[in-house]
Amino acid sequence: EIVDARGQILLPGFVDMHTHLREPGREDTETIESGSAAAALGGYTAVFAMANTDPVADSVVVTDHVWRRGQEVGLVDVHPVGAITVGLKGKQLAEMATMAAGIGRVKMFSDDGHCVDDPLIMRRALEYSSSLGVLIAQHAEEPRLTVGAVAHEGPTAARLGLAGWPRAAEESIVARDALLARDAGARVHICHASTAGTVELMKWARGQGISITAEVTPHHLLLDDSRLETYDAINKVNPPLREKSDVDALRKGLADGVIDCVATDHAPHAEQDKCCEFSIARPGMLGLETALAIIVDTMVTPGLLDWRGVARVMSERPAQIVGLSDQGRPIEVGEIANLTLVDPNASWTVSGKKLASVAHNTPFEDMTFSSKVTTTVLRGQITVRGGVVANRAGE
Ligand code: DOR
Ligand code: ZN
Ligand code: ZN
Ligand code: ZN
Repeated sequence: EIVDARGQILLPGFVDMHTHLREPGREDTETIESGSAAAALGGYTAVFAMANTDPVADSVVVTDHVWRRGQEVGLVDVHPVGAITVGLKGKQLAEMATMAAGIGRVKMFSDDGHCVDDPLIMRRALEYSSSLGVLIAQHAEEPRLTVGAVAHEGPTAARLGLAGWPRAAEESIVARDALLARDAGARVHICHASTAGTVELMKWARGQGISITAEVTPHHLLLDDSRLETYDAINKVNPPLREKSDVDALRKGLADGVIDCVATDHAPHAEQDKCCEFSIARPGMLGLETALAIIVDTMVTPGLLDWRGVARVMSERPAQIVGLSDQGRPIEVGEIANLTLVDPNASWTVSGKKLASVAHNTPFEDMTFSSKVTTTVLRGQITVRGGVVANRAGE
């Protein structure tokens, strides 16, 4: 089969460490099938489906379902993320070994699902993770546990009185878990870094020799707190949009490698849960189909990253961090191909209703970006051709 790649950029297939696919439980907003299509269209060949499903992915029943269903759909490898703990209080470790040994072979566990409010549990999970060879991802989203509920920082949010996810909530958990990882002799991964302070803490922790990695989302690289001016809940996300100075620090951190990689935090929500009053709306934004375009316009166009760097932050680093051996490597002779082709001169305008996700609301509606994924190849098979999902038989 011939692919016309004239004028296009060849990259290794993207790996998303942080995707919410809502199956099981909220198939009215996304399914493994619809989310896989969105991922393939975004140039992804592997995604990690977060654990906050209903039921939570705290058992092999759920994690194996996620893997199997992803393979059945066949557009992208859907790796299940397991919950660290079971039950509401988060006081008991989940059977991580069983999930890690299942068909779904869980490689990463996170506190997104059941909240882990007890540092001792986090410490034990970190110790356990080293012996299992899995990764613990901290999503640092419990402001009430650390600093109480105070207003969003940032001038717009503060003026509007939007309730709270202060920087200190994220940063204190990053600092705490860096120290716990050091003492446990383990690795920890920080989800969706959103503040300049987190970038500084990452530098500090690395300087201490701590095994810590971090991701940043496309929306935190593009949007800032001024978007909240309209009160539109489409901009509600956890962690929240921060100030321009945070955005700049995150871009620089990603360029310098202090922030390792990009992860979408793709978080589909029903129309009624986004188009409502800010305080009751759910946090989260669609991310898979717009990620590459945003990275190019926020990082490549301003000269912060070259295409080699795009391969690093979208594919190679995430695959290394989570220990995927079959994806995210530099393109080498003789390998089964996981590839993405990007047209760097394909100006396009986002239209939510045309996105493959079941949910169609997006803060990027009507925004124009300069580049687009045209082709995605999973293990030698074309999953996206000409910007359209190819049928599974590869025809
Ligand atoms: O805004 C968010 N929404 N951030 C997360 O990490 C979780 C997500 C969700 O599940 O909706
Ligand atoms: Zn949490
Ligand atoms: Zn989160
Ligand atoms: Zn998330």
